[in-house]
Amino acid sequence: MRIAFFDTKIYDKPSFEELGEKHNIKYKFFETKLTPDTVDLTRGYDGVCVFVNDCVNAEVIDELYQNGVKFIALRCAGFNNVDIKHANGKLQVCRVPAYSPYAVAEHAMAMLLTSIRRIHKAYIRTKDFNFSLNGLTGFDLHGKTVGIVGTGKIGSVFADICNGFGMKVIAYDKYPNSNVNAKYVSLEELFEKSDIISLHCPLTNETEHLISKQSIEKLKKGVVIINTSRGGLIDTDALVEGIKSRKIGAACLDVYEEESDLFFEDKSGHIIEDDTLARLISMPNVIITSHQAFLTEEALKSIAETTTQNIVSFIENGECENRICYKCV
Ligand code: NAI
Repeated sequence: MRIAFFDTKIYDKPSFEELGEKHNIKYKFFETKLTPDTVDLTRGYDGVCVFVNDCVNAEVIDELYQNGVKFIALRCAGFNNVDIKHANGKLQVCRVPAYSPYAVAEHAMAMLLTSIRRIHKAYIRTKDFNFSLNGLTGFDLHGKTVGIVGTGKIGSVFADICNGFGMKVIAYDKYPNSNVNAKYVSLEELFEKSDIISLHCPLTNETEHLISKQSIEKLKKGVVIINTSRGGLIDTDALVEGIKSRKIGAACLDVYEEESDLFFEDKSGHIIEDDTLARLISMPNVIITSHQAFLTEEALKSIAETTTQNIVSFIENGECENRICYKCV
């Protein structure tokens, strides 16, 4: 079984190589992303292994199919970058539905604490022997209301963490779950009551620009917005305006609408063309990490294990475990 592995990073290889050897899977690691321009590289491979910013649109799917590729193994949970409907009947698509919800939920809390306790500022100050506390005043999380949108695997862990901090946890989900330690409310009420909003729902037609000019008007003044889910959940221009008008008190972003050409890469020697991102980065109350929330040892190991299991199951049974069925999406 030959697999073309796209968007390879140094931290991906060890666990995939080890498991590949064990299961007789030959990975060819490409640093480039899968796009209409690179899909030619897939000739002669049985499957492709892709990540969050590979582009698997209808054009790419048609060419994969022509090249004899039989399946797409996503090594992530979200699949908004794959045209699942178009793949139906041509290629099987499988994903890693869960690896470590703790990795993402803990990162969301790490960003929140960093932001509201100004740890990012304090770290730089003390490195420069500046021990002044002026401008570092934060606020207690205890007693504050956190609104969680999407209470699946990650959102429910985040709810538990917030409960541990003594916060009032309210939530909105299209499919509420009685096992989640949160009080479900309407999205409107969540917008109106939350001091902190954390997004943990998938990016779909319904959730795109959930945070928009209109919804920002409904938010509490000074609200902190956390997004570790997908960039498209937030209309970034509206976010920038919301921060400039002081309606939004702070933003913690692990994902960004236009991240695909920037995140995961070292751009430190480049002039950033994206003025919106540059503006956000310039703001003292915005913290950005580059889609890092998943990046723990436990999560990487689990991603490699499940992806390998998916591939092995396809080889043995002609069916991927964790197959994404477009009718069920
Ligand atoms: P999940 O599928 O367990 O939970 C998603 C929840 O969102 C479900 O409870 C679902 O009912 C709810 N939902 C669906 N449509 C909704 C809507 N219109 N409004 C409100 N809620 C809705 O997914 P999981 O594992 O918790 O992941 C959540 C998201 O986190 C993923 O979609 C992915 O985009 C993102 N993610 C980000 C990572 C990162 O490194 N930053 C890593 C892993 C996931």
